Amino acid sequence: MSVKKIEFKNVWKVYAAREGDALEEIKRSRLCGAPAPPYVVGVEDVSFDINEGEIFCIIGLSGSGKSTLLRHINGLIRPTAGEVIINGVSIKELSDARLLQLRSQKIGMVFQHVALLPNRTVTENVALGLEIRGVKRAERRQLAQEALERVHLPQWGAFYPDELSGGMQQRVGLARALVTDPEILLMDEPFSALDPIIRRQLQDQFIEISAKATKTTVFITHDIEEAARLGDRIAIMNKGKVEQIGTPQDILLRPATPYVREFVSHVTLLDKLVAGDIMQSNSEIVHSANVACDGGSIDAETPVAEVIRRGISGTGTLLVSRGGTNVGMIGREEILTFLTMRPDTDR
Ligand SMILES: Nc1ncnc2c1ncn2[C@@H]1O[C@H](COP(=O)(O)OP(=O)(O)OP(=O)(O)O)[C@@H](O)[C@H]1O
Ligand SMILES: [Mg+2]
Repeated sequence: MSVKKIEFKNVWKVYAAREGDALEEIKRSRLCGAPAPPYVVGVEDVSFDINEGEIFCIIGLSGSGKSTLLRHINGLIRPTAGEVIINGVSIKELSDARLLQLRSQKIGMVFQHVALLPNRTVTENVALGLEIRGVKRAERRQLAQEALERVHLPQWGAFYPDELSGGMQQRVGLARALVTDPEILLMDEPFSALDPIIRRQLQDQFIEISAKATKTTVFITHDIEEAARLGDRIAIMNKGKVEQIGTPQDILLRPATPYVREFVSHVTLLDKLVAGDIMQSNSEIVHSANVACDGGSIDAETPVAEVIRRGISGTGTLLVSRGGTNVGMIGREEILTFLTMRPDTDR
């Protein structure tokens, strides 16, 4: 059973001097089809849950409301309407002191450009959150060192930030967020400013770190490939609204709207999908396929790139099995459907 860690319930954020009045005006104008009043709607009526331990990615074009939504989680932004619930408690029920406590003890943040203090060493930067909590110096150093080891920078503690490359500084930022062992990690385009190779390395390290520590992570990115590599689920935002939520497989294979389709049409990534994702699983067909599948058998977890290779080079239909049981089949039709649905995939 998955436990709800973060809940958004009909959250709106309108940027205006009198937010409540502005929201009423917006709703009224929509009802009667009048021209939209001149307010910026950052987030529009968003409702969904993020489960404990999940890596939840949010993607969308610039200005679609990703950062606005994320900042609601640590209470940096208060919703104009609706509720944000963390660990079962609505943020609006929290006093300022409890909110501060939530932010400093349960939540870690990493941004696109980490702001490291230039006159402090890497270790001191990483230990900042511990210092604020009043942890003693020796313990701070010990914990900071452990965090630096987790991001593969164990020997850089005594250096100053400007002696490190951009990618290394991002890793220091991640170590700084991890050092207090937060339950929730909020990451707002943490790798976006880095070149592709470094970025991929950081993604790999992040996957490794996440596998060891079960944190709930909300990860914003512009990049669907990054979202598909890292995310257990992905939400796609458009003009303040969530347009689709699903697993990477759902999003890549079944884009719900033209906007989502536009995002996934450029994906060259096949390693997230396996035979089980593209097979035909109608039980009657599978049953008859026992006899008819002349292309051989393939495990349901086989990467789709391998399926395509076998499907194209072979002549017959592939039988798909999981744990010794036949669960589906993949013929030329399934492969063609998959390839034509996503015309830019590397074949
Ligand atoms: N403090 C603010 N005051 C007024 N409008 C704001 C404010 N912050 C954000 N907005 C507006 O709200 C909308 C959503 O912005 P937001 O920063 O959440 O988008 P984003 O998806 O994070 O974009 P990006 O990918 O560029 O970071 C935009 O139209 C933006 O101009
Ligand atoms: Mg943003």
